[in-house]
Amino acid sequence: MTSSDRRFLVRPETAQDHDEIARVVTAAFGSPAEARLVETIRASAEYIAELALVATLDDAVVGHVMISRCTLHTEGAMTSIVMLSPLAVDPAHQGNGVGGLLVTTVTTIADANGEPLVVLEGDPNYYSRFGFVPASSHGIELPLPDWAPEAAAQVKPLTNDVAALRGTVVYPASFDVLGDH
Ligand SMILES: CC(C)(COP(=O)(O)OP(=O)(O)OC[C@H]1O[C@@H](n2cnc3c(N)ncnc32)[C@H](O)[C@@H]1OP(=O)(O)O)[C@@H](O)C(=O)NCCC(=O)NCCS
Repeated sequence: MTSSDRRFLVRPETAQDHDEIARVVTAAFGSPAEARLVETIRASAEYIAELALVATLDDAVVGHVMISRCTLHTEGAMTSIVMLSPLAVDPAHQGNGVGGLLVTTVTTIADANGEPLVVLEGDPNYYSRFGFVPASSHGIELPLPDWAPEAAAQVKPLTNDVAALRGTVVYPASFDVLGDH
């Protein structure tokens, strides 16, 4: 699936993009930790190739997003769900809708794939415009780093969401590279 907004295109990442993705993610976050997270998720069982997307401008990578698997502990069961992390846009191209294009495209594909919901940790002032709501209001708990406010834990219910999917998210080992999960 490909989306476009003005000159920006969104498509699945390829092996040829890896170095450019690392550059964009490092520049966006101002540290190498999230680029390491991208590489660790990519090498893990939680990676979903069709939900790892790049935004390009004139064939150059200007943004990247990943949705990958994590576990939801519900009453008496462990269910595989998906998490959006990380999202990064090259600082030189921020404020042009690239982040929004990546979030809407990747969550639309997740919905079409039958995923019931997407969880994430991020700024609600940004993600609420894409249909993310506080995870706590939806019966879902995300363990957050000490510095993050509770409102950072968010969920976007998708078409196949069901009431049984309420519980606590367990981050995969890939997130250990961030050192705060
Ligand atoms: C957050 C990020 C992905 C947004 O990408 P972008 O392409 O600039 O986003 P868009 O153009 O779609 O949206 C821009 C809007 O989001 C707002 N915005 C950007 N970051 C925001 C944040 N952290 N909190 C609240 N609003 C934010 C901008 O002010 C702008 O608002 P406006 O539409 O009212 O002018 C980008 O700023 C980035 O890579 N930041 C560093 C990495 C990061 O924080 N990633 C998210 C981790 S959860």
